[in-house]
Amino acid sequence: MNNTLLAIDIGSAFIHAVIAKHDLENNINILGTGTQKSAGVNKGLIVDIEEASKTIKNAVNLAKKSTTEPVDNCVVSISGSYSKSLRSSGSVNVPNGLITETEINQVMQMALYNATIVPEYEVVHVIPIYFKVDDSVEVDNPLNMNGSRLEVSVFIVTAKRTALTNIKSALNVAGFDMVKFVLDGYASAIAVLDEQQKKFGSTVINMGATTTEFITYKANSLVHNGFIPVGSNHITNDLSVMLHTPPGAAEKIKLEYGSITKDYTPNNELGITKVKIPRIGDEDTTSEVALDYIQTIIHARVEEDLVLVKNQLKKSGILDNIGSGIVITGGLSNLDGIKKLAEKVFDGIPISLSMPKNIKNGFINFDEPTLSTIMGLLQYSLGTNRNYQLDSSKKLVKPIKKEVYKEQKLESVHIGNPTQADKQHLSNSQKEEYQIKDNSTVLTPLNKEKKKGVSRFWNKVSEWF
Ligand SMILES: Nc1ncnc2c1ncn2[C@@H]1O[C@H](COP(=O)(O)OP(=O)(O)OP(=O)(O)O)[C@@H](O)[C@H]1O
Ligand SMILES: [Mg+2]
Repeated sequence: MNNTLLAIDIGSAFIHAVIAKHDLENNINILGTGTQKSAGVNKGLIVDIEEASKTIKNAVNLAKKSTTEPVDNCVVSISGSYSKSLRSSGSVNVPNGLITETEINQVMQMALYNATIVPEYEVVHVIPIYFKVDDSVEVDNPLNMNGSRLEVSVFIVTAKRTALTNIKSALNVAGFDMVKFVLDGYASAIAVLDEQQKKFGSTVINMGATTTEFITYKANSLVHNGFIPVGSNHITNDLSVMLHTPPGAAEKIKLEYGSITKDYTPNNELGITKVKIPRIGDEDTTSEVALDYIQTIIHARVEEDLVLVKNQLKKSGILDNIGSGIVITGGLSNLDGIKKLAEKVFDGIPISLSMPKNIKNGFINFDEPTLSTIMGLLQYSLGTNRNYQLDSSKKLVKPIKKEVYKEQKLESVHIGNPTQADKQHLSNSQKEEYQIKDNSTVLTPLNKEKKKGVSRFWNKVSEWF
């Protein structure tokens, strides 16, 4: 097992696949990338399994071209369009007075157990908002703290089972069976926010081709997520309908001349006020359209999208307590003037446009707003900024630290316990790490069915004391 990861972002415009692993300095090392124009996907949902799996396979094959490393794990983004989130809490006693990963797992499983998950939904994330040890102040990481009782408040993301099954089917057809899911918005937030923004709170709006997803971070935890079924393709459709031009020409106009703030009056810096566009049904005939009319169409759609986001944030109480501001990413954030429009809509809240923190990998550049989700998937799985949480298989995932990585390196060199000769070659700290690895516990989810009657009573009793 060398922890080579395949990450797949299934977007409505593009499907990205990246194969990556840690390098010797614990940086994310990209081994291969593949991008395909999306097919069989709409508003984050697989609408044609055959088409989608073919495209996924093509993207993955492209990524595999530049590496021979076998893939150990596969992580896939899922859209907020079929997700529901809720909060829960749990508490457990700490029998030995020292909090270990066993108690952290137990309390997270307890919080999940206490939550009412809608029957046709599956758990994707259980993320701690805060831990408390013996009613003390809130703590981010209770590992190795002393106490007799551990509590947790969690944010749970669930997703519609049928939607996940369709993704699994598409991946199965493409040849992958073991996958973990990560919420698209969560991944993009991990990729674009810095530590300060995660701590003080920020809302990330990912404006894609057919969806606008937004998530809010507060005190290093995800606390809210939402979704609007509108994206940049809607601008293309509006232009196509209003200007009676084919979608391909409308998309070209959007990308070439699309702007919300440019000056299109005579003698402007572009030197043009009108463009020639083909007509639907008779592409040899062109008609002239004023650029400021195009601007009005684009402005109306993007403003509507942002106002819908604002209304949802207001309804959920996020807007009045937004922290350090709003960060916009995703393909639509490339639109000229979008920052100004967002500043107007969000009325004084600081707005920034952001792309993923670039992962240095020779000549390949990943600082593109359309790559926020895929980069977030890599950082979620291989990065060093993760907290304890339960993943989509309801297993505890641990913060990735340099020491953990070193352990893995040692483990891959030595199968079984180190021999005396091995030990002589290890530094003291390495020996310690080896020790930790040897004592590691297998952490498994609680089984809800078995938690009825007497055991449920004991759980309640253990919560009271
Ligand atoms: N300058 C621009 N102005 C407006 N739209 C743009 C611009 N550049 C790219 N886009 C749009 O961004 C979209 C692609 O963005 P992105 O890759 O984030 O979407 P996606 O993740 O595939 O879609 P979704 O998240 O909705 O499933 C396309 O619709 C493209 O037209
Ligand atoms: Mg997207």
